Amino acid sequence: MDSLTLRLGRGLDTLLDRTVAPGFTRIGPAVRRRLPGWPADPAPDALVGKVTVVTGATSGLGLATAEGLAVLGAEVHLVARDPDKGARVRDEILARVPGATLVVDRCDVSDLDDVRRFVDAAGLVRLDVLVHNAGAMPATRTESAQGHEMTMALHLLGPVLMTDLLRPALAGHDARVVFVTSGGMYGQRLHADDPAYLSGEYSPTTAYARSKRAQVELLPILAQRWTPEGVVVGATHPGWADTPGVETSLPTFHRLTGPLLRDAAGGADTTVWLAATEPAPASGLLWHDRRDRPTHLMKKTRTGETEREQMWAWCREAAGLEA
Ligand SMILES: NC(=O)c1ccc[n+]([C@@H]2O[C@H](COP(=O)([O-])OP(=O)(O)OC[C@H]3O[C@@H](n4cnc5c(N)ncnc54)[C@H](OP(=O)(O)O)[C@@H]3O)[C@@H](O)[C@H]2O)c1
Repeated sequence: MDSLTLRLGRGLDTLLDRTVAPGFTRIGPAVRRRLPGWPADPAPDALVGKVTVVTGATSGLGLATAEGLAVLGAEVHLVARDPDKGARVRDEILARVPGATLVVDRCDVSDLDDVRRFVDAAGLVRLDVLVHNAGAMPATRTESAQGHEMTMALHLLGPVLMTDLLRPALAGHDARVVFVTSGGMYGQRLHADDPAYLSGEYSPTTAYARSKRAQVELLPILAQRWTPEGVVVGATHPGWADTPGVETSLPTFHRLTGPLLRDAAGGADTTVWLAATEPAPASGLLWHDRRDRPTHLMKKTRTGETEREQMWAWCREAAGLEA
């Protein structure tokens, strides 16, 4: 393929990204898949022999991700806060992917003690893919078991602690850690001075977006921490996908955008691709529709190194990380 064709394809892809709405909906992947340079699907057996963990696997994108990994041959640990729901989802996936190796593990990702218990109980000696997908947008300001603001506990503290505790299993073999973030973070800057959201009137969408912004801002620091051990870390935002979470938390948005939303598999596509594509993707990047994307679309959300370090210092202490 000549370079002009490739550049035209890239240009159209970028236009879709910067105009947000068309790119985030099902139109995004429908167009991008036809553009020159669309990255190939992983090989059908790409994950045979690989061990994977997906949090929030009982619904929406997590379920679709777990299924996508199983289709590629992976052993998948379905991390669920409700093990009965986990077992129902395991049976649902097994009906569609006969012979899949699926294990249900219990964990409330927002509860740091439960994260420690889960890592001990799971006893994983080797882990190839860890997907931090569990997410929520509580309607009112809620605190986790350790008293942290819930979205920050669920989207940042629990996942960072879980990854750090699983380092021995992840290290040394190109393992991949994927944070499922949100395009909503493009509207918020980092608030390292108030990670608990104590000042100002609480807004569910703002709290959610701030915690997702924190995931993305800390990516370079997390990459610095984990990549020397051979662990590739990245984040992906799924665009807008039709899931139980969106229907419940954003009913008006869901009603207005309904027909344009991606299906769950469309929202999970880049997560599965990041888990399985070869060679391993570069570490520390934000991805959407199989391409790395800018972490800021507006000047007002940009953050300096000092604030990022301040957030990291808080995160380390709040999550109780060693060293
Ligand atoms: N759908 C979208 O358009 C969209 C857009 C941007 C970002 N995202 C992100 O994508 C991820 C999945 O979202 P979704 O739309 O698929 O939402 P969803 O349908 O509500 O699924 C959320 C999953 O997270 C689990 N979960 C929630 N709190 C948990 C906790 N404390 N511990 C363990 N698991 C917990 C839920 O478990 P239960 O089944 O027990 O509730 C469920 O499995 C989230 O991180 C979300 O922020 C989604």
